[in-house]
Amino acid sequence: MSEPQDVPRRARVDGVDQPLDQATVALLDEGFTRGDGAFETVGVWDGRPFRLDDHIDRLGASLAAMRLPPPDRDALLADVEAVLDGITQDAALKLFATASDTRAVTLEAPPRRVLPRRLVTQPAPWVRPLDTWGYAGAKSLSYGPNMAATRAAQAAGGDDALLITLEGWVAEGPTFQVCWVADGVLHPPSRGLGIVDSISRRSVEALAAERSIPVVAGRWNVQAPQYADEVLVSSAVRPLLAVIEIDGVDLPGAGPIGSQLADDLDRWRRGLERRDLQPGDAAAPGAQRADADEPATTDTPEG
Ligand SMILES: Cc1ncc(COP(=O)(O)O)c(C=O)c1O
Repeated sequence: MSEPQDVPRRARVDGVDQPLDQATVALLDEGFTRGDGAFETVGVWDGRPFRLDDHIDRLGASLAAMRLPPPDRDALLADVEAVLDGITQDAALKLFATASDTRAVTLEAPPRRVLPRRLVTQPAPWVRPLDTWGYAGAKSLSYGPNMAATRAAQAAGGDDALLITLEGWVAEGPTFQVCWVADGVLHPPSRGLGIVDSISRRSVEALAAERSIPVVAGRWNVQAPQYADEVLVSSAVRPLLAVIEIDGVDLPGAGPIGSQLADDLDRWRRGLERRDLQPGDAAAPGAQRADADEPATTDTPEG
């Protein structure tokens, strides 16, 4: 794995290449003035974007939830090819589409943020059930509440926030998914809560299925992860990591299942193993899935 500072900082705005630090969009772009638009962060591992099609699908799903037009997939693919030209390192690729019809793609080093190992619960009243609000789950450019929750958790002595819905259910992190292992079963929160449909989580669920680890999604209160054997977080640009503390309660930390899945995920991302998994792969053969409020058929990307 290369050093992050090796990654060239590139951008392409509406199909025009620009150095990232000089790239501009109009001041009155609705993406800037109102956060009206959607984005994706795609992990680049050894120079290759992981599950790019799924990220573009999710961008389309976010835009559809916001009643904005779909992204131009071919144009985005051309942008991505241009910014990744000659790249062999790990990097973070971002895709943006705004209500002013601006399309932008950026490439930079993976984030050097503090790892989310100590979580502090924070209210997330904006996470609303999927069946109650069309906008739910959209990865919109309005990330102010998420970033404020991270800062509030840090002010309370943690690394990052564990977002809790109004009803008291564990939802997600501000920029990562959260799941846990209890009695050999992987427990992610139900997507029906209105959380972001995490692509790293889909990958982890698929890998769990390959290893015959049951996956049971549901609505859980904060005591569920606090009593779990291993609490795990991931995102497109982060490995699968073990959490060591929630609200000052010490957790067991890294364990065998999370460590195995983290290794599997890293190998998959780096193309070290051939996989035949397809989008919606948590329902791959061997997957055992039970989620009372969320049939397995809703597990495919809603793009
Ligand atoms: C709110 C939120 N939840 C979960 C995730 C994880 O999603 P993914 O695994 O696709 O990166 C993200 C990633 O940006 C996020 O912002």
